[in-house]
Amino acid sequence: MEEEITKNKLVVIDAEGNIHEDRTVEGLDVEFRTTYSMVVIHEPIHFENCHILAESNSYVEIFPSTYEIVNLQISAKNHSEVIIQENFACREALIENHDEPNLKVSIGKDCMFSYGIIIRVSDGHTIFSTEDSSILNRPKVGVTIGDHVWVGMRASILKDVTIPNNTIIGAGSLVTKSFTEENTIIAGTPAKVIKKNVNWHHLHTDFFK
Ligand SMILES: CC(C)(COP(=O)(O)OP(=O)(O)OC[C@H]1O[C@@H](n2cnc3c(N)ncnc32)[C@H](O)[C@@H]1OP(=O)(O)O)[C@@H](O)C(=O)NCCC(=O)NCCS
Repeated sequence: MEEEITKNKLVVIDAEGNIHEDRTVEGLDVEFRTTYSMVVIHEPIHFENCHILAESNSYVEIFPSTYEIVNLQISAKNHSEVIIQENFACREALIENHDEPNLKVSIGKDCMFSYGIIIRVSDGHTIFSTEDSSILNRPKVGVTIGDHVWVGMRASILKDVTIPNNTIIGAGSLVTKSFTEENTIIAGTPAKVIKKNVNWHHLHTDFFK
């Protein structure tokens, strides 16, 4: 029993809801270090050149998608969580949740990530006050992305950011703080709301004559 608990586990749940603990997933390389981590993958799903590192009591779960998930790299360590809800589309993204413990990355349903995306839940290094030595940049919760969010190419999302449903994040944006209003475009460095009352579709504009 003891041995069973300490094992790392890759669990694959097939389209019929059957649970498999002896499967690999095509296009996805899962690497475990130390113990107690778990990766749960729901089929049907299509990965290409993806990698998950799960270390020290971490949990990663990715729900089924009708879109391709390509060049996704996840690093989850130290009691962290990364949860990606269904119908995730991705060309290239790095999700780093491997510094301070107990932080969560949550990505909602129907999100579309372009290429060069970075999500970082922590600054990775400490900033402290020279007046009283207090720590100024300790992360609190992680990164939360709502449903149906389009993240443009080379956008970066930093610690403790929440993005509401139906947001578009412009190319090259640096998102340093949370937003609350749905159906906006946020863009720039640092990102600010540049348009309101909008939504987006996977297909390009020529499909809408
Ligand atoms: C954000 C985006 C969707 C906005 O498109 P749009 O609605 O046509 O916006 P506009 O061109 O009318 O721009 C409105 C304003 O925002 C600014 N802006 C637009 N995109 C911006 C960006 N990425 N960063 C900073 N500012 C931006 C414009 O310069 C303009 O500023 P102004 O009002 O001072 O002139 C588009 O610029 C973008 O970044 N697309 C992402 C493309 C992408 O990554 N595709 C991935 C394919 S895999």
